[in-house]
Amino acid sequence: MEDTSFIIEGGERLSGEITLQGAKNSALPILAAAVLAEGKCVIHNCPDLSDVRTALEILGHLGCAAVRRGHTVEVDARRIANTSIPSRLMLKMRSSVIFLGALLGRTGEAEAAYPGGCELGPRPIDLHIGALRQMGAEISEEFGRITAKSGRARETCVNLSFPSVGATENIMLFAARARGRVTVINAAREPEIEDLGEFLNKMGARVSGAGSGVITIDGACRLTGCEHTVIPDRIAAATYMCAAAATKGKITIDRIRPAHLGSVTDIMRQSGCLISEGESTLSLTAPDAIRPVRLIRTMPYPGFPTDAQAVVMAYLLRARGVSVFTENIFENRYRHTGELEKLGADITINGRVCVVSGVPALTGAHMCALDLRGGAALAVAALSAQGRSEIHNICHIERGYERFDETLSGLGARITRKKI
Ligand code: UD1
Repeated sequence: MEDTSFIIEGGERLSGEITLQGAKNSALPILAAAVLAEGKCVIHNCPDLSDVRTALEILGHLGCAAVRRGHTVEVDARRIANTSIPSRLMLKMRSSVIFLGALLGRTGEAEAAYPGGCELGPRPIDLHIGALRQMGAEISEEFGRITAKSGRARETCVNLSFPSVGATENIMLFAARARGRVTVINAAREPEIEDLGEFLNKMGARVSGAGSGVITIDGACRLTGCEHTVIPDRIAAATYMCAAAATKGKITIDRIRPAHLGSVTDIMRQSGCLISEGESTLSLTAPDAIRPVRLIRTMPYPGFPTDAQAVVMAYLLRARGVSVFTENIFENRYRHTGELEKLGADITINGRVCVVSGVPALTGAHMCALDLRGGAALAVAALSAQGRSEIHNICHIERGYERFDETLSGLGARITRKKI
């Protein structure tokens, strides 16, 4: 199979302005939600990424017309021809599991492959299945496939044992056409959940509390098409902030919601970065000497995001002292550390805890992207290393970053692609 690599000549200070892409993790559930509308949805600021293309393929397979024009995607779900998602598409992207709730809400049936384990360690969907069952779905799990059938979701109160983002989304999607009120206790509070709630409300559902720990959804008989603009991608923002900071550079990010990045800017400030925020812009100037950060604990929103752990780690590799990370969301989210060590990073892992002892300099190396955010972290580190690095398997990076290399080149990075 053909592999594409990024070649990075490190050591250039990044400087300049970028316009932030739309949020992948918002676009995906919103595209799934479009299945609920007996009409056409127009979704703006929809990033052009391989994961989003997979979602469009799923929509096409279900019989919806899904067309992209620039950053606007139109989904016409007047006709649903199919309620089963092929294993090939389920395996490409774990988050395709949220189509279950949307299909159940719209048609009362859904069938999909079990997404299985993945690069971040075991990613069970027991909370999704348990909640959908509690809402009235009959679900069987056999031979790696999930088959679900239901009438309209029934009135109930789902108490999540952990504020899972995907499970909260699946509940909201199924509940949007419930016969009565569904309440979610200990719901995920991520901005992407709030965005999904807004989208569902525009379609005619009555969602309140999205973005807080308790969400209520009063189902509607019928949902219609609507128009919506996806929120900006806070994790892509964190990545470009780290790239600029790691190279002792400066960046201004336009079309950002600074409030969504509170826990990240807090850590960046602790490390010495100067950050100023406008209503939809953020500027960061790196410190001359990076200060270590005593403890970075990943937590559900509004805590520090697990998706930003790897890129912030890549930035802190050259801090003057020891930084400590605790990963509380996923079991296997330190796989990038083995690759970062190839650049000369000093990292020790003990279970959930990762200790990064800053080194004065990194040296370019050959590395392999093993997952999306870990892959982006390799690029951040390579940009700050002396000499040439090569990052293989960049398909992982391109699942989440639109024109990653062009965006970095625009800031002065020396990055090119090479087909192998
Ligand atoms: C979403 C994001 C992902 C992010 C994660 C945590 C999308 C497309 N992906 O993933 O980028 O890293 O939130 O912020 O939005 N869990 C269970 N049982 C379940 C569901 C989850 O045990 O049924 C566990 C998971 O294994 C994991 C933790 O809960 O340890 C968090 O998972 P969850 O919040 O569901 O993440 P995703 O929705 O998969």
